[in-house]
Amino acid sequence: MSGIPHDHYEPNSKATKWVESRLPVIGLLYDTLMIPTPKNLNWWWIWGIVLAFCLALQIVTGIVLVMHYTPHVDLAFASIEHIMRDVNGGHMLRYMHMNGASLFFFAVYIHIFRGLYYGSYKAPREITWIVGMIIYLLMMATGFMGYVLPWGQMSFWGATVITGLFGAIPYVGDTLQTFLLGGPAVDNATLNRFFSLHYLLPFVIAALVIVHIWAFHTTGNNNPTGVDVRRGSKEEAKKDTLPFWPYFVIKDLVGLAIVVTIFFAVVGFMPNYLGHPDNYIEANPLATPAHIVPEWYFLPFYAILRAFTADVWVVMLANWITGGIVDAKFFGVLAMFGAIIVMALVPWLDTSRVRSGRFRPMFRVWYLVLVIDFLVLMWVGAQEAKFPYDWISLIASAYWFAYFLVILPILGVVEKPTTPPATIEDDFNAHYGKSAEPAE
Ligand code: HEM
Repeated sequence: MSGIPHDHYEPNSKATKWVESRLPVIGLLYDTLMIPTPKNLNWWWIWGIVLAFCLALQIVTGIVLVMHYTPHVDLAFASIEHIMRDVNGGHMLRYMHMNGASLFFFAVYIHIFRGLYYGSYKAPREITWIVGMIIYLLMMATGFMGYVLPWGQMSFWGATVITGLFGAIPYVGDTLQTFLLGGPAVDNATLNRFFSLHYLLPFVIAALVIVHIWAFHTTGNNNPTGVDVRRGSKEEAKKDTLPFWPYFVIKDLVGLAIVVTIFFAVVGFMPNYLGHPDNYIEANPLATPAHIVPEWYFLPFYAILRAFTADVWVVMLANWITGGIVDAKFFGVLAMFGAIIVMALVPWLDTSRVRSGRFRPMFRVWYLVLVIDFLVLMWVGAQEAKFPYDWISLIASAYWFAYFLVILPILGVVEKPTTPPATIEDDFNAHYGKSAEPAE
């Protein structure tokens, strides 16, 4: 697949010619900024920019926080209180970083579900999708390790529970867990390595974001109809697209401004709403909190982890087949990672030739159930592991797997899609009328 034909940068001064013949960086910037973008993109396409904003915000606030934070078990908790009380603007800095993580995950979930609805993962955008999934996994690792740094009760016990999961892996589990913790239990070595990695991973994510953008700049963006941009000639492509600058930059900035306004309302007026009060108690290895709950953004997958208890038939079957190697705990771990793996494999599991959910009547219903399912998992992940919540998590987890492994492959075969518009231009004109065309 060749890229969308478009005008390329032509250096016209002596200075720009000099630079371009040595390092074509102006051309690269020009091509990136002026990339032809489908003109029918809707508001669900602003979240990529929100994500880029979140990444920058987390890196900038994080770097300043580190100037005042001490990664030592005797000092970490106190250094956070020092940031909150003594450092100029320190409480704002910390609240921005704390809530910035929540905004980051909120945005990534919308971004992922946007992709799942409009079929943005389908050929030729599989690499964009897979790189996105790697970014998402790294975001989870970064978020998890960051939460340990304040060294509160939830930091400590969350780290204990989650690293304990690695201990459930047969044969190598104990060694792996000790390796991750840097010792037999969560302690100073753990805090130090988590701090080190928490600082490093956002830069790895930043590098992967460049690859992510490179990938979808190569294929061109998807759009709400899923119909491809016409590529026969520059003139034809121009009928379906607009340059990213200024049209989409302005639109994205409007969206970002609204999101940022809401974000600062949360940071200013309810900064601890999404946090757990127990994390304002210093970590105490001798006092287990009554109820250990992860951050809200981990809850759907935490629910899947807990759903598969020893009395569930698939767990019993797996246990029997493997001669006891796969127990309930290990099964839970496999299910949790499996839930993300099936989502990563969706480009190959969805067999429909029609890309966008807009033209797939049956798919839309199952997709809506998936969204509700995800929210139910998020809610049930915070409930105690007893009746009826255990049943709800089991049914909701089963649906998650069924959607990707059974429903999507079958739907592609049995569903009769409606007809998408012939071109993006037709879709645009149907929505906004021809008068909305920008003047030449
Ligand atoms: C730091 C995290 C991320 C950043 C900064 C980011 C950024 C972006 C941007 C700027 C776009 C184009 C505009 C838009 O669609 O909003 C985009 C598109 C896309 N992203 Fe992400 N993304 C991130 C994570 C993810 C994740 C976790 C996934 C899921 C696997 C994902 C999947 C996609 C897909 C499939 C597209 C193509 C959509 C299209 O063609 O229009 N991204 N991303």
